[in-house]
Amino acid sequence: MSGKFIVIEGLDGSGKGTQIERLAASLYDIGIAVHITNEPTDGYIGKYLRQMLKNSENKDMCLQGALFLADRLDHVTNPTNGIKSYLDKGITVICDRYYYSSFAYQGTAADMDWVMNMNLNAQSMLTPDLCIFFDVNPEECMDRIAKTRENPELYEKDIDITRKIRNNFHNVFARLQGENIKIIDANRDIATIAKETLDIVLEVLN
Ligand code: TYD
Repeated sequence: MSGKFIVIEGLDGSGKGTQIERLAASLYDIGIAVHITNEPTDGYIGKYLRQMLKNSENKDMCLQGALFLADRLDHVTNPTNGIKSYLDKGITVICDRYYYSSFAYQGTAADMDWVMNMNLNAQSMLTPDLCIFFDVNPEECMDRIAKTRENPELYEKDIDITRKIRNNFHNVFARLQGENIKIIDANRDIATIAKETLDIVLEVLN
């Protein structure tokens, strides 16, 4: 039986990382082991992308969109450590960011339809069984980033871009009616969000 493919999305500073740790620990406690992974990946293209987000001369959005897609296709299909390889072994995968991030972030400057089409029409792309979006006010995200990051990356600096990215996420979710997408109000306390997240994930796993 194939494992389930679960994606976690949110703005920078939305608390994704904390919630993924809590979710994995809760699942482990009830005997469900998961593989946690993230995008950009730690592979060649992912590393190049991280460099690009930190300090690149070339900030072309189409180039970024194409590289994120290339990173994602390797992430999905890599025979040794790709997402499909885990799912085929019956292992559930939790992925921190996926194509929704490309639509929302690269869609701020590149044509969103182009970004969506090239991702969604790639034959080897996987559709997640579930996507959870941690929805936090852009102002709150910016406050948290200011407190925790010494050198903010490209998308972590500007409140107007952060607002635009959040709007893009919501527009994209409205367009992807056929997908299983759940939006969680993540302005609340960590424990409440963790409980709601676990309940949603268990519905998919059971
Ligand atoms: P992030 O999850 O914030 O990683 P970290 O906490 O390790 O910095 O992701 C890094 C950045 O990459 C984030 O600002 C969003 C951006 N990103 C895109 O612009 N497009 C994409 O397709 C993905 C996956 C991420």
